[in-house]
Amino acid sequence: MSNEPFIEDLRKRKAIAAGSQKDIDTQHKKKRLTAQERIDLLFDPGTFNELDTLVMPRYEEYMGGKSSRYGDGVITGFGLVNGRYVFVAAQDATVMGGSLGEMHAKKIVKVMRMALQYGCPFIAINDSGGARIQEGVDSLGGYASIFDANCEASGVIPQLSLILGPCAGGAVYSPGLTDFIFMTENSYMFITGPEVVKAVMQEEVSFEDLGGGSTHSSESGVSHFLSKDDKECLMKTRELLSYLPSNNQDDPPYVKPTDDPERRCPELDEIVPVDPMKPYDVRKVITSILDDGQFLEIHQLWAQNLVVGYGRLNGYVVGILANQPMVLAGTLDIKASIKATHFIRICDAYNIPLITLQDVPGFLPGKDQEWGAIIRNGARLIYAYSEATIPKMMIILRKSYGGAYCVMSSKGLRGDLLYAWPNAEIAVMGAEGAVNILFRNDVAKAEDPAARRKELVDDYQRKFNNPYVAASRGLIDNVIEPKDTRRILIKSLEVTLSKREKHVPKKHGISPM
Ligand code: HXC
Repeated sequence: MSNEPFIEDLRKRKAIAAGSQKDIDTQHKKKRLTAQERIDLLFDPGTFNELDTLVMPRYEEYMGGKSSRYGDGVITGFGLVNGRYVFVAAQDATVMGGSLGEMHAKKIVKVMRMALQYGCPFIAINDSGGARIQEGVDSLGGYASIFDANCEASGVIPQLSLILGPCAGGAVYSPGLTDFIFMTENSYMFITGPEVVKAVMQEEVSFEDLGGGSTHSSESGVSHFLSKDDKECLMKTRELLSYLPSNNQDDPPYVKPTDDPERRCPELDEIVPVDPMKPYDVRKVITSILDDGQFLEIHQLWAQNLVVGYGRLNGYVVGILANQPMVLAGTLDIKASIKATHFIRICDAYNIPLITLQDVPGFLPGKDQEWGAIIRNGARLIYAYSEATIPKMMIILRKSYGGAYCVMSSKGLRGDLLYAWPNAEIAVMGAEGAVNILFRNDVAKAEDPAARRKELVDDYQRKFNNPYVAASRGLIDNVIEPKDTRRILIKSLEVTLSKREKHVPKKHGISPM
């Protein structure tokens, strides 16, 4: 007897795992791809291996037969991305709106646990109406086990969330627990939808305003990457994965370099104005230093007074954290502190050396900042720098004032190799501010107060606002010429790659929250 009928039966069953053609057309009309199309773009061609295709929901009787679809509205499995294995769960909006029922959740938790066990990144593609209403508490219980798996995998394997449609209600908390969230302009995330806001607050608000991709990428910072459509988002996901190790025991992927490690960067003299009041775009410094000028920026639209992202130096992945003098003069505020903290913790978890490019006049002053808890949020940044055992390099490009000097990669926080350019100003504050406080009476009593102030400012500038006091105490490891920054960073990186540092044993610290 041939096994042909069995194979035929299997094929028939698998054929009803996705939504109907009408549902697929509706999804396309919304300018969104189906779960299968997304998977095809995410993985290296032909490498995806699906699991649990034949899982069925237990609540069929409630759906009047509409749910008789295998797979229960989510495609799970594993495949290669840039040649390395990655697990995925892609919600299928063509089956019951991608809503999350009991078996749907079990499928997701199963692949998350496999990813954790085998040390592979996990990607969740979200496109769902949230908890499947018909399955009540079984859906809610399903969310709780996903959250739990997210927490357990945190810091062990990279977890990425792609929001490519609705992500409503409690569903937002799984992405919220993952390392990176990607959104498209055509997606939204919210705890309470517009109709609830209207009922409770009596305010009209649109999906986009409340939690569209743009809003979460520029206002709340919940989203780390914004793309115009699904395809761009999936390509960006592949790009981010090219900088991350598969798990916390691995090193990030090394790429044979094409750029010269001895390359001088004379353009740096032009990019950073010596005048400390003049703004410039620190991204130009970053791309000048990194291999082939390649830089993947994270949180590009949020807390723009700080720039963070990944690149390579002589083929090794590095994390770059830089003050951005073009926005708020590069001051540190609450949002920048949160952005920096998140970035440092991810670099530390995944063995990515950190390079800080410092040009900071201090913390942003004001009531908003004090009331918003800049004290606690600034403290988080200190905690993250101190706790990080990865190599920590720093270049002081220009200003390094006050509290910001202490909290950003300083020797006191066990920064490894720290350098300053010759025009750097490392001091408690700028000369004007210092003279106003120290010599208020002296200036007031002078015959010509303006001339006396200038004299005192110049004197302070000469004595303190330079890198040489810090260099004389060993608080920086050298003063270097800007053009040598790349080659010196590469040598410093290479020597610190074998760094080993351990924490004092404890259950866990209590990072300021
Ligand atoms: C069951 C659902 C569903 C859900 C959508 N569908 N959401 N089925 N449970 N939660 C079904 C619809 O009935 C419809 O079926 C199909 O999916 C497509 O949905 P549409 O509404 O036609 O799509 P669209 O117009 O794009 O609107 C998408 C949407 C809307 C905005 C997400 O569906 C919606 O508001 N859904 C409910 C969202 C919600 O309140 N979820 C519960 C949140 S509370 P047919 O058969 O008509 O094609 C929650 C608690 C979790 O999640 C707590 C964890 C801690």
